[in-house]
Amino acid sequence: MRLAAPLSFATLALAAIAAAPQPPAHKAPHAATQMVAQTPPMGWNSWNFFHRNVTQKDVEAAADAMASNGMRDAGYVYVNIDDTWEGERDANGVLHTNSKFPDMKALADYVHSKGLKLGIYSSPGPKTCAGFEGSYGHEQQDADLYASWGIDYLKYDLCSYRKIMAEQAPNDKAAQMRTMIAAYAKMDKALKSTGRPIVFSLCQYGDDAVWEWAPSIGGNLWRTTGDINPTWNRIYDILEEQAGLARYAGPGHWNDPDMLEVGNGKLSPAENRSHFSMWAMLAAPLLAGNDLPNMTPEVLSILTNHDVIAIDQDRLGREATRAYADGEVEVWTRHLEHGALAVAVLNVGSDRYSSHPFNLSLAKLGLRGPQNGKDLWTGKEVTLTNDEPIELASHDILLVRIPAPRY
Ligand code: GLA
Repeated sequence: MRLAAPLSFATLALAAIAAAPQPPAHKAPHAATQMVAQTPPMGWNSWNFFHRNVTQKDVEAAADAMASNGMRDAGYVYVNIDDTWEGERDANGVLHTNSKFPDMKALADYVHSKGLKLGIYSSPGPKTCAGFEGSYGHEQQDADLYASWGIDYLKYDLCSYRKIMAEQAPNDKAAQMRTMIAAYAKMDKALKSTGRPIVFSLCQYGDDAVWEWAPSIGGNLWRTTGDINPTWNRIYDILEEQAGLARYAGPGHWNDPDMLEVGNGKLSPAENRSHFSMWAMLAAPLLAGNDLPNMTPEVLSILTNHDVIAIDQDRLGREATRAYADGEVEVWTRHLEHGALAVAVLNVGSDRYSSHPFNLSLAKLGLRGPQNGKDLWTGKEVTLTNDEPIELASHDILLVRIPAPRY
């Protein structure tokens, strides 16, 4: 069992943060950000499945699928284009799409006609991570362009801005951090000035305790880690990195442990369930990243489990914390509206027989006596006790909602 080391922030990063205006963790973000992302954003993003190959047709097909397969009704709203839609700037600096996206306005209209919203991607640097045109020096122009198309969400990915930071403040990490924060603040201001509600998603891989300052510059969500990939090890590593971040999340501003890989790669059904369950426990954005028109019914049923989605979307917006770990089993709890409690018991062990049966300690969760709840994957009523062992296969999860826990 590998336990996460406590998150340690680089001294330099802390110095940068100290130099920047500091909100307390729970300071309410300014009024305009209150209008979007009151619960973690739900939708789909093109990157995890299509990577650089995504086309306008693929995005339309994703919207079609989402609108007709039950996902929209389950709460999925944003259809987000990731990197590689960008073309060249014209003589006036106006950015155009490339040939994979012949008509962005038409695409936005199409997505909106399905009752969905459209997201886009850029970088504060001159180039995006895939080497396409970024927004550096054109922030307001790009924000205005997005608004004119009808864009509802922007993922803003650091990428080549790192070079600008290094150039502007060589050998001065603290100044580099201030430069980075200023770049994100600049785009937030540009987006706000369009008057269009646009979710602002920060992507800089969790550097420099982004959770400390992102809400104060209008960030609705911020990546807490490097990129996810569709393997259990990566999903587990990311999960471990989330310990300690719960207090930074709340309505309008969320930790983002990256987009979902449910249905991608060779993840087993148990791994897909556990990944989805834990992202819901973490109040993470639920952005599916798979091939929506061609997924299996089993993957669809995981992505549209209403009870699990309700955990993610709980209005209190309180992210789960890890209550304890015992052997290869981790127990996480999340406080929900109306005094309810979600309990996740996760077998992170890779040996099928390593750690089951598992005896839950209710005392370690601060609970007294048997607890009645619903198993959100079987839909059955269950009673959690100290002495009835829980059978959990490798990488599988028991997720229970206890409506009236007894403490
Ligand atoms: C970075 C991001 C990914 C994706 C790619 C696109 O790696 O972290 O989520 O947006 O860039 O180039």
